[in-house]
Amino acid sequence: MNVLELKKIDKSYRRGGFWGTQEKREVLKGVDLALQMGTCVGLLGRSGSGKSTLGRIALNLEPPNAGEVLYHGQAVRSLSPKHYKDFRRNVQVVFQNPLGSVNPRFTAQQIVAEPLENFESLSAAQTKTRVNDLLERVGLSASDLCKYPHQFSGGELQRVCIARAIALNPKLIILDEAVSSLDMLVQLKILDLLAQLKNELGTTYLFISHDIRVLLKIADRLLVMHEGQLVEQADSMDHLNAFTHAAFLELIHSVLPPLPMAIPDPQDITRRVDAN
Ligand SMILES: Nc1ncnc2c1ncn2[C@@H]1O[C@H](COP(=O)(O)OP(=O)(O)O)[C@@H](O)[C@H]1O
Ligand SMILES: [Mg+2]
Repeated sequence: MNVLELKKIDKSYRRGGFWGTQEKREVLKGVDLALQMGTCVGLLGRSGSGKSTLGRIALNLEPPNAGEVLYHGQAVRSLSPKHYKDFRRNVQVVFQNPLGSVNPRFTAQQIVAEPLENFESLSAAQTKTRVNDLLERVGLSASDLCKYPHQFSGGELQRVCIARAIALNPKLIILDEAVSSLDMLVQLKILDLLAQLKNELGTTYLFISHDIRVLLKIADRLLVMHEGQLVEQADSMDHLNAFTHAAFLELIHSVLPPLPMAIPDPQDITRRVDAN
């Protein structure tokens, strides 16, 4: 069963000059993507390949020029208000930069309470209990409730954003470079947390990253995007040795020394990453 499906998505932007001299830039070309319940789909691609644009279209933050986003098989743009509310509630996002994703004047309590206040009719006391539980779940404590964003480290604030994303127990979370701004050790801790939450809650993830090491840690399936197209797909992380596209090999070699073989062996890569 697919939570979300993107069918033949095209997206282009116009840039430069005045009308007539504007250049049309095709950012996504015929992208098909199906997100099955309970899986973590890794979307790998270098900067500028169109990953975030695809994420925004999946979230219905902007429309595609052609193609359709389906939520449980129904076109998102023609959902009734009731079903659209269900979509909004069940499809959440965590962005790369936690400081830019929160209201700087809100405390952690207010940040995490916001979705609960928008979607559930709880008393103030019930909301407080839920926020407390959520912060505990992401490894923070009651003493963090009253802190403002600037009083947290990047990793801690990303935990607050994750608590906000899971507050409504969504079906799908889109994580766009969600650990890319963090130090390696903090990245590993957040990835462990996300993997644990996925197991406990059964949430589906679309995990977008330019870093194969991150996706090797968390993804169940891998897609490779290059210049707005999906150029490689594997249903299991054990099958990456079938990937031969130059864009994939380049991304691997950008984080790891060239391997002594033409086609990378994913198990070997995993071992090397674990050893670091
Ligand atoms: N709102 C926009 N207006 C114009 N161009 C955009 C816009 N958003 C993205 N682009 C362009 O689309 C391309 C893909 O961007 P993006 O989806 O952010 O890639 P990625 O997330 O893989 O780095 C880039 O060339 C970027 O400049
Ligand atoms: Mg991006």
